Amino acid sequence: MSITKIRIGIPFNTEAVVEQLPAKDVSSLKYFELDETEDGLFFRYEDVTEKTAVYGLGEQVRGINKKGWIYGTDCTDDPDHDESRKSLYGAHNFIIIDDPDRAIRFGVFFDYPGKVTYDLGYTDSTELKISVSDKNIDIYIIDTDKLINIVSDFRHLIGKSYLPPMWGLGYGQSRWGYKNEADILEVVKKYKDAGIPLDMIYLDIDYMERYKDFTLNEEAFPDLEKLSDDLKAQGIRLIPIIDAAVKVEDGYDVYEEGVQKGYFCTDKDGKPFVGAVWPGKSCFPDFLQPKVRDWFGKKYKFLIEKGIEGFWNDMNEPAIFYSENRLKQVIERTIELSKTNIGLEEFFELTGMYATLNGNKQYYEDFFHNVDGKPVRHDKVHNLFGMNMTRAAGEAIKEMYPDREFLFFSRASSIGAHRYGGIWMGDNSSWWSHILLNLQMLPSLNMCGYLFTGADIGGFGQNTTEDLVLRWIALGVFVPLFRNHSCMGTREQELYRFNSISTFRNFITIRKAMIPYMYELLRSSNEEGRMMYIPLAFAYEDDERARSVEDQLMMGDDIMLAPVYTQNAKGRYVYLPEDMLCVRMKSVDEYLIYELPRGSHYVECALDEIIFFVRSEETIDRMLGKA
Ligand code: GLC
Repeated sequence: MSITKIRIGIPFNTEAVVEQLPAKDVSSLKYFELDETEDGLFFRYEDVTEKTAVYGLGEQVRGINKKGWIYGTDCTDDPDHDESRKSLYGAHNFIIIDDPDRAIRFGVFFDYPGKVTYDLGYTDSTELKISVSDKNIDIYIIDTDKLINIVSDFRHLIGKSYLPPMWGLGYGQSRWGYKNEADILEVVKKYKDAGIPLDMIYLDIDYMERYKDFTLNEEAFPDLEKLSDDLKAQGIRLIPIIDAAVKVEDGYDVYEEGVQKGYFCTDKDGKPFVGAVWPGKSCFPDFLQPKVRDWFGKKYKFLIEKGIEGFWNDMNEPAIFYSENRLKQVIERTIELSKTNIGLEEFFELTGMYATLNGNKQYYEDFFHNVDGKPVRHDKVHNLFGMNMTRAAGEAIKEMYPDREFLFFSRASSIGAHRYGGIWMGDNSSWWSHILLNLQMLPSLNMCGYLFTGADIGGFGQNTTEDLVLRWIALGVFVPLFRNHSCMGTREQELYRFNSISTFRNFITIRKAMIPYMYELLRSSNEEGRMMYIPLAFAYEDDERARSVEDQLMMGDDIMLAPVYTQNAKGRYVYLPEDMLCVRMKSVDEYLIYELPRGSHYVECALDEIIFFVRSEETIDRMLGKA
């Protein structure tokens, strides 16, 4: 292993890495030309050819090979993410550059808490340009022989990942829209009537009293503890959501304590910064302070004492719908404009103002953290917010319940948070392209330390279709975080709502049988710093064709995944880098196996089948717990 740490300036300590290496100065920087200008630092990797590939960046749009687009690591709440986007909910600054023409291959981690821009051959196809608008950064360069080993060296540097309890690998049903206990009981009953196994139901924001963290809407959930106990007796766990921001409300203890103790991020005058999220005007806990993390993290006890054993953390980019100040300005301007004949310019000004209220990046320049007594403007350390919210709960819960395991995942993240919780892939859509995106994010996230992850199956936004859910579940069966989730107002997508109930029952039963196998794969991948999902380019480095496969993955060493992700397709083309057995599985007892030689094949796959590939039949028995 060879890792070179280079320090430029006096970087902010992100706590992303766990191995403390001696730092070298910038003269030890390899592979990159460095330009230092007034605007910051620019790292250029030149002479890029068609064969150069770039991997990594964790949760991002586009393919496994990231070359050809411009990305920014800047935690962003973006529910409409198509391939035009540059940033999603997580910010993961690790890439691998593989340049076979020059026999160069290395990993690089830009350890920086704010936005880093990766122009990966977008502006100039012969150049990769990484830029930061700052002159303080740690850079780690990892030189290792194989792609797979670059990842394990990096994972060693950043420390072991969060692992869920084994039950957390079960199937979970979620929907923003379950309003009360009766809704939850109906979901349980309908799953039971359909004979489809269910392990978890997620509680979205409606379980709270007016969206206030660590409160209960007691009218809707009169006895959460009893509900939780009754469901647990049936093998079903309730998993409530916790949001990052705290409602501004006199008499609400969390808000009052936070104000009193100075635990919220502040505005330029030192007053708690107010922005709006679900509960309306809210304050943002300053998760960068250890005592705030401890305070907030210990509040989860409120729910744990009611029998809760798992949580999902949300809106922690942080998402801000509007800031108090900006809303005021917009309303005042609207009143002024209303006195005019709203012509072209005024009309666009008006619509523009409202369109840019939600998620305006300007808000991140309007509030401050307190780091060791000094104010630090939020945008400078933006990507550490979600990470430290996850850490708050992760650390406090471990301290309070050292012998218990909790299911725990978050929306926003950066490298480092992988040690405290998993992540889901944010608000996706019921689009076929998002099945592929789900697959492509898996190895990229594994590279950045995230093993426990998955996407909202069926799609969060937009209306789903039965065949989309079938194909997505057929991939989800192999993915650790196995949750069907959708947005209020979209078509309901609980599995019992469709005609293919027996297929769903079969698929979920396959997954249930696979849990011990998957858990062991997760555990050993974590132990050894291996990826659980491996691109073919990594598993078959010397195979030129494998290097360009973007829609198949190895799951561990023994299973190759090749899901169908297009509507009305009766199957798909698959590239086999070696002779393999094709498995077409309908249920744990019914599957077809046949040999296929190395090369490309069209493989049929009906809607009631899951296809995958193995080298020996014995793998199937192990996978299904029969061996
Ligand atoms: C956010 C979350 C989504 C949740 C919704 C309401 O959009 O990403 O999963 O359902 O908020 O809480």
